[in-house]
Amino acid sequence: MIIRSSKGLTFDDVLLAPRRSSIRSRGEVDVSMRLTHTLRLAIPILSANMDTVTEWRMAAAMARAGGLGVLHRFMTIEQQVKQVTKVKRAQGLMVENPYTVSATATAAEAERLMDQHEVGGLIVVDSDTKLVGLVTRRDLLLAPDSVQTVAQAMTPADHIVSVGPSVTSTEARSLLYEHRLEKLPVVDREGNVVGLITSRDVVRVEHRSAASVDARGRLRVGAAIGVGPGEVKRAAALLEAGADLLVLDIAHGHADHCIEMVQLLRRTFPEAQIVAGNVATADGARDLAEAGAAAIKVGIGPGSICTTRIVTGFGVPQLTAILDAVRGIQEAGLETPVIADGGIKTSGDLVKAVAAGASAVMIGSLFAGCEEAPGAPVIRDGQKVKVVRGMASLGAAIGRRAAERGDAEQGGAEPSDAVHGADESAEDQEDWDEVVPEGGEAVVPYRGEVADILHQLVGGLRSGLSYGGARTLAELQQQISSMEK
Ligand code: XMP
Repeated sequence: MIIRSSKGLTFDDVLLAPRRSSIRSRGEVDVSMRLTHTLRLAIPILSANMDTVTEWRMAAAMARAGGLGVLHRFMTIEQQVKQVTKVKRAQGLMVENPYTVSATATAAEAERLMDQHEVGGLIVVDSDTKLVGLVTRRDLLLAPDSVQTVAQAMTPADHIVSVGPSVTSTEARSLLYEHRLEKLPVVDREGNVVGLITSRDVVRVEHRSAASVDARGRLRVGAAIGVGPGEVKRAAALLEAGADLLVLDIAHGHADHCIEMVQLLRRTFPEAQIVAGNVATADGARDLAEAGAAAIKVGIGPGSICTTRIVTGFGVPQLTAILDAVRGIQEAGLETPVIADGGIKTSGDLVKAVAAGASAVMIGSLFAGCEEAPGAPVIRDGQKVKVVRGMASLGAAIGRRAAERGDAEQGGAEPSDAVHGADESAEDQEDWDEVVPEGGEAVVPYRGEVADILHQLVGGLRSGLSYGGARTLAELQQQISSMEK
């Protein structure tokens, strides 16, 4: 066993020495980076697979901004698949297979469906999926008591403007504007409903040049899985739903069962992008890269809510861990990218992580206060705050056990929009009294939309590149030698 001396470095221990630069404006630099061999991000930032950080809203916002969200895994397979589906439906000019309701349904049923699917309107169809009408939350909200059925509340088909599947965003935009509409049902030649276009989608498509999208123009999303036997089934379901990346999420990733799981996943799903971790050494990174991981997640204990180092005595200061992991991969003759996970508090930390060789960073606590993170903000001591908790914290463990018992009242910090729990992997099924937390909980200031934080982080990264005289992240990485204590 290696006992690491105090020579290990973390972000606060170093500063990068400025270099002569020919860059005249921050706009001249390119911060895009490959996350895996097949996946490139416009901004090298991922949101962490934690239940107080990433569910579908955060994932969609991350992808829209050019990054990527990784859905946490502490929910059933069905719930996680639903989360992937929601991200995949969140953008694209047309929402495929929009939610529908029958004209004979009650107004209360329609409202319940809107709540369940978190949408503001439903397309009304007959039994053959032919367009019958459109009903919105506003229709139901303002309807008098005498309105009991969807048929009474809806706008009927002959009052609706609909379009064909080949409509362009410019055509959709002018129809929506001309008729002062919010939604345009998309129907095929036979009058069957095949999609829905909303005014928000049109605007988003027009502004999404940097967004992380798949070949079908849908937002990209990652999803975490564990190592238990049921997890191959989870992986299959997530890939089937369109997940672009699977993140094998193990606290100590340099373990036989993690390496074997990477190999099994590679054999079973040869096309899938599998990120594996977490590790903090050259050997750990090399072993997972050699097992076939598409990227390696680095970080044992650097996270702001992590107590692993205190509880177990193990860990490597994060900057050293990144440098060592990159070296281990390179010495093995591989080019597997590294994701620096945890401990990013400022844009300067992001610049240092990239300079040390990381292709991207994963961020938890800094994003937990965002509007898109699960859970509602609360007022504490006059301040608007949200909760962040480590996935190995007591609160998260209590939440998972409570969800297993169907006991929503005891869900700890109750951060999640999805119900947690019932399908945990074998490693998590320890007896209750054997739980030894390796994470804490904290309140973080409410920070508004994640796009604003990303804007600041990326602005800092761009400035960082100009101080380093680098036009790309790869150029900055070639300058590691100028790093000084
Ligand atoms: P930040 O600093 O961005 O770090 O909040 C996020 C990362 O922290 C890790 N994580 C944990 N580590 N105990 C730990 O030791 C925990 O309970 C825990 N929960 C999350 C994880 O790698 C995450 O991405």
